[in-house]
Amino acid sequence: MMTLAAEIDKNGTSPEKLLAPVLSSFWDEPESWTLDTYRRHEGYEGLRKALVMEPDDLIAYVKDSGLRGRGGAGFPTGMKWQFIPQGDGKPHYLVVNADESEPGTCKDIPLLFANPHSLIEGIVIACYAIRSSHAFIYLRGEVVPVLRRLHEAVREAYEAGYLGTNILGSGLDLELTVHAGAGAYICGEETALLDSLEGRRGQPRLRPPFPAVAGLYACPTVVNNVESIASVPAILNKGKDWFRSMGSEKSPGFTLYSLSGHVTSPGQYEAPLGITLRQLLDMSGGIRAGHRLKFWTPGGSSTPMFTDEHLDVPLDYEGVGAAGSMLGTKALQCFDETTCVVRAVTRWTEFYAHESCGKCTPCREGTYWLVQLLRDIEAGKGQMADLDKLNDIADNINGKSFCALGDGAASPIFSSLKYFREEYEQHITGKGCPFDPARSTLWADGTDDKNAHRGVNA
Ligand SMILES: Cc1cc2nc3c(=O)[nH]c(=O)nc-3n(C[C@H](O)[C@H](O)[C@H](O)COP(=O)(O)O)c2cc1C
Ligand code: SF4
Repeated sequence: MMTLAAEIDKNGTSPEKLLAPVLSSFWDEPESWTLDTYRRHEGYEGLRKALVMEPDDLIAYVKDSGLRGRGGAGFPTGMKWQFIPQGDGKPHYLVVNADESEPGTCKDIPLLFANPHSLIEGIVIACYAIRSSHAFIYLRGEVVPVLRRLHEAVREAYEAGYLGTNILGSGLDLELTVHAGAGAYICGEETALLDSLEGRRGQPRLRPPFPAVAGLYACPTVVNNVESIASVPAILNKGKDWFRSMGSEKSPGFTLYSLSGHVTSPGQYEAPLGITLRQLLDMSGGIRAGHRLKFWTPGGSSTPMFTDEHLDVPLDYEGVGAAGSMLGTKALQCFDETTCVVRAVTRWTEFYAHESCGKCTPCREGTYWLVQLLRDIEAGKGQMADLDKLNDIADNINGKSFCALGDGAASPIFSSLKYFREEYEQHITGKGCPFDPARSTLWADGTDDKNAHRGVNA
């Protein structure tokens, strides 16, 4: 099988300079997911180094590495671990968030499928640091092949003495439970996840208290993303200076960028933080032949969209923030000029309305109203006043909802109106979608592939 690096080389730009495969470095080897393969690639060496450190020193080391959470918000991982009170006499828990449901986000599931032991090793290290003897992985239940593979990797780890009692003779005891969720986007929100794990309906909790004080079963709990925890073993094994040699001062290290949509070579590209979409597209074959980029998300559908003007924005927390969006989950969904932005935003908003847990009024009612307006506009039944109404409703959801799902639902509305208001207006004045193959006025690229013009729902 041709490796990702070789495939990219074929397309021109040398990948050695730009990519930094760590978690994904041996995904294309046969049986990459087994303990044997992992060990051949220095697997569980980071754990050996961690276990000779004092837990507090280990937390300080991860903090100094500058690792930031990969679940969306970019919160410093070591600092989160430091919030766990010590000597409180209560059980401490680590909960790994593997719910991955954000539209466009698709990194944790491939990571778990191809290299589950990197997560298990990271879990043992994190639990040693925060003095926890029970960890949970909350996995999206629909991904049954990943669930099976994870169960098998956990079994291997128990058998080899990386889990269970007296791990590697260190005196550390650790149980690891894999929990399959029932498939709800809101259960990725960390407090809703904890409720769901406790057996209740997954709805966000009021904060404070924060999970670090009263999380799972009202005990101090760290909730971290899969990629955050899986990145820890390499930091321990190769050193924090090695990690800091990649990326920038405030956003150091390597990370997985998920390229999807109308691109020649979709997939996972592991690179230092701060790479640009232009660089990723240049080395991977670009937008599909004969087409050009119209809009894209830097971190999934909840992050304000960008256009082709933003191809050179450094994809790190500061760079994307300064350009008016968020790095989020680094899910780079690309849409070419054949995609109707109103249609794309309508589909995303339908998703948010469907996944709204209903606990707070701005999100529960607001997402429903947004969908009605958007469907009308898409069908040519909208009015000009609807555009301000869309903006007003989004404004009443954003920052006024109980959890960040509401803010995420407002993002595509604000950003699409900012960059593509004219296209909304064309739907209203033309009384229909100009991208509709039956009445096309906007696409004139000479292709006869009608389905290509149906955009995200083709
Ligand atoms: C609606 C919603 C869904 C979320 N889904 C996920 C998810 O699937 N996986 C994830 O790691 N974080 C998700 N998050 C973020 C988590 O609440 C939390 O910030 C994250 O797990 C922390 O991990 P990190 O510090 O390692 O980034 C979601 C947040 C919201 C508001
Ligand atoms: S913002 Fe939406 S998902 Fe979050 S608590 Fe309110 S209704 Fe539920």
